[in-house]
Amino acid sequence: ANDLRLGVAGLGTVGTSLVRIIHNKARALEKRCGRRIIVTAVSARNRDKDRGIDLSEANWFDDPVALAESDGIDVFVELMGGDSGAAEDSVRAALKASKHVVTANKALLAKHGVELARSAEANNVSLNYEAAVAGGIPIVKTMRESLAGNDVTRVYGILNGTCNYILTRMEREGLAFAECLADAQRLGYAEADPTFDIEGFDAAHKLAILTSLAFGCEISADSIYVEGITSITTADIEAADELGYRIKLLGVAQRTDTGIEQRVHPTMVPKSSAIARIDGVLNAVAVDGDAVGEVVLAGPGAGGNATASSVLADIADIGRGDRAPTLGKSADELEPYVRARMRKH
Ligand code: HSE
Repeated sequence: ANDLRLGVAGLGTVGTSLVRIIHNKARALEKRCGRRIIVTAVSARNRDKDRGIDLSEANWFDDPVALAESDGIDVFVELMGGDSGAAEDSVRAALKASKHVVTANKALLAKHGVELARSAEANNVSLNYEAAVAGGIPIVKTMRESLAGNDVTRVYGILNGTCNYILTRMEREGLAFAECLADAQRLGYAEADPTFDIEGFDAAHKLAILTSLAFGCEISADSIYVEGITSITTADIEAADELGYRIKLLGVAQRTDTGIEQRVHPTMVPKSSAIARIDGVLNAVAVDGDAVGEVVLAGPGAGGNATASSVLADIADIGRGDRAPTLGKSADELEPYVRARMRKH
């Protein structure tokens, strides 16, 4: 039949939500895409774990690479995470086998995105990653499709839900950092290794992807100045408050005379600004385009259902046959990344 057959690798917070939504909304999704979307194969670390989802119709694979290459799927959905190992091997294998790929893996794209984009183009398939940047916010499609008529001068925002959740609760409730982090982990917001969140690396991975989309340049995560929120205390937050500011972990990328500047660090933002009012697990991304002006998108930056919403958007595009170039233009046309001489801040 004409079904779109998915192979889902990784059944953690996002993978489990994705399978559940696909089951619950099967008919609506079929109408929106013009074809049935079915999960025909899955792979995860633990086969016996009860995830509360029905996997009886899906073939189980212990090896995600075998799943990625399987004849039984049209789309490989990578939700394992990690910038190497099984995630990298299986995504490469899927593209090589001419399977479309949908991934939420910002670390992998930050490191290998250009190369993977090239492979997707060579094999004439989609590589979609809406969920990799700012969870449920549709910023990738906005940048690579809706803002195609703009030259972008700057993109910035709150790119990590876990950090924003921690800072918000420290401020509102005076709670200690560790307690807020434990709650973020319990709610399924944090990375498997939460150091990526609190040290700023997760935000940096997302910023590196946004920078490429904004400026049409190669991805360069190594060029980012990164500072996380681990040294922020409730005393810092109170001091900022008295001066009329709130502390947010921001990622900023801008074009300068000397190249492109990328940085992630805690920033004092005036309480009157829109970005100061982004609370809890919400993220926000602001883009300055020469034609449109400033566009700001806000919404849930993490969490199973919100992130699965973005994964489904990518799947629906493939179902309808919509294909956009992975990084907004051909991987061979990307400009080299030129790092700006940075000011002290
Ligand atoms: N750990 C990430 C965050 C998940 O907290 O934003 C979404 O990428």
